[in-house]
Amino acid sequence: MANCYSSKMTDWDVPTLINVPEFRDGLGALGVVEKDSPFPFPIKRVYFLYDVPSNAVRGSHAHKDLHQLIVAVSGSFQVDLDDGQNQSRFILNSPSRGLTVPPGYWRTLRNFSAGSAALVFASSEYNPDDYIRDYDEFAEWAKA
Ligand code: TYD
Repeated sequence: MANCYSSKMTDWDVPTLINVPEFRDGLGALGVVEKDSPFPFPIKRVYFLYDVPSNAVRGSHAHKDLHQLIVAVSGSFQVDLDDGQNQSRFILNSPSRGLTVPPGYWRTLRNFSAGSAALVFASSEYNPDDYIRDYDEFAEWAKA
């Protein structure tokens, strides 16, 4: 395994770039996400973004309880995060690196390269009530 990973080393309450276990040989590479490794939450849902135009901005919302692990399985894109006080920017461009996004972060995804794809592992089933889609509402919620 090229990338070793221990969830003990990651603070899952802050956005973090982590290694996704990868098996690489002369035939290519294979990445693995399974129970507790490297995403230490029950994986209740997997969804993926693809065919995203380069000028599109996805996300623009926060989640109240959802933990996510986002992986650029193809190409690259930018993830901007905001907890109501601090902003951070991550460029995802490798299937062997993933970004953990805890609850309570306003996120926007943009600058998708042609042919890129985002694979997202989520700790809950889809629940529209878990979304905050208005930034001012989010800023108030984040203060509380
Ligand atoms: P949305 O979360 O707004 O996408 P993004 O944040 O990437 O821009 O979801 C887009 C649409 O897909 C919306 O109609 C809800 C639907 N959807 C589901 O039905 N299930 C899901 O798991 C997700 C993530 C979205």
